Amino acid sequence: MYVLGIESSCDETAVAIYHPEKGLISHLLYSQADMHSAYGGVVPELASRDHIRKLVPLIRQTLLESQLSASDIVGIAYTAGPGLMGSLLVGAATARSLAWAWQIPAIAVHHMEGHLLAPMLEDNPPSFPFVALLISGGHTLLIEVQGIGDYQLLGESLDDAAGEAFDKTAKLLGLPYPGGPALSELAKQGRERFKFPRPMTDRPGLDFSFSGLKTFALNTITQFVENQQDKADVAFAFQQAMAETLSIKCKRALLQTGLNSLVIAGGVSANHAIRSSLTNMAKSQASQIYFPRPEFCTDNGAMIAYTGCQRLLAGNTQNLEIFARPRWPINELTT
Ligand code: KG4
Ligand code: ZN
Repeated sequence: MYVLGIESSCDETAVAIYHPEKGLISHLLYSQADMHSAYGGVVPELASRDHIRKLVPLIRQTLLESQLSASDIVGIAYTAGPGLMGSLLVGAATARSLAWAWQIPAIAVHHMEGHLLAPMLEDNPPSFPFVALLISGGHTLLIEVQGIGDYQLLGESLDDAAGEAFDKTAKLLGLPYPGGPALSELAKQGRERFKFPRPMTDRPGLDFSFSGLKTFALNTITQFVENQQDKADVAFAFQQAMAETLSIKCKRALLQTGLNSLVIAGGVSANHAIRSSLTNMAKSQASQIYFPRPEFCTDNGAMIAYTGCQRLLAGNTQNLEIFARPRWPINELTT
């Protein structure tokens, strides 16, 4: 039972094949980052045009590397949202057309559910129930997860997402797109010097707010930054503030739910400082913590193929309508 997964919600074209017993068979990814870096961020129209160019060749290559043919595939999963409308439509139209041609079901996958389930691809996967922190470029979500499709939203960002705050602060520091990894690299040379706030940790609740961190970074840069070391010190302080804030909120979520298992996923969970801060916190709470491997923290096809496979096994397929939804709250999903 081989399931093909297609991811095209933003600036990565990715394809993978997953089998429920054999596991992940193959996964390929083409990143548009170089193309968008000239503009300092993702240009939606360029993104969708590039998905059109890359997606079908990538599907061919994935089948070839897996030594499989179209007749081996039993379902096609694709990211139906949230994401950029044009980019989503390329994946949706391609997946639905192939599914029709191959006479197999297509499965519309929620991108954040894909991130949420990415740790299931690792050797030591989490078991339900758990608390999940999803930290990506567009979303910051704390969720109580009882099972696939059983998601209770505990908290979310009221303004910028964690990844967005990384990217905007990186831009202020003059770093190239994509800003998150560049800022994290620069922070390695940083020293303990500036103290950034830990937003919304001084009051109860599990929501986040990160736009103030970006403003704090701007003020610090204007006042103090003259050379490369100063920039590294700002990057270090920003990253520390982000890591500690996320840890404080996750600790609260564990205590509030009484659960002792924590899943961290989404692009920002590739960040070393954040991984280690959350790992230390989980240890202090006698809780287990699970991350995807770094390449499956950021967007990838493997998480879509895996999620699609689970949804297919549960009988969740849709009709032939090309379904894409740029805004799609995860708690609207059902089992
Ligand atoms: O999950 P993702 O690949 O795409 C979305 O669904 O948004 O997340 C992308 C975000 C970007 O904001 C990127 O800068 C951030 O994840 N990111 C990082 C790191 N790697 C990716 N942020 C901090 N440190 C990293 N190492
Ligand atoms: Zn993503």
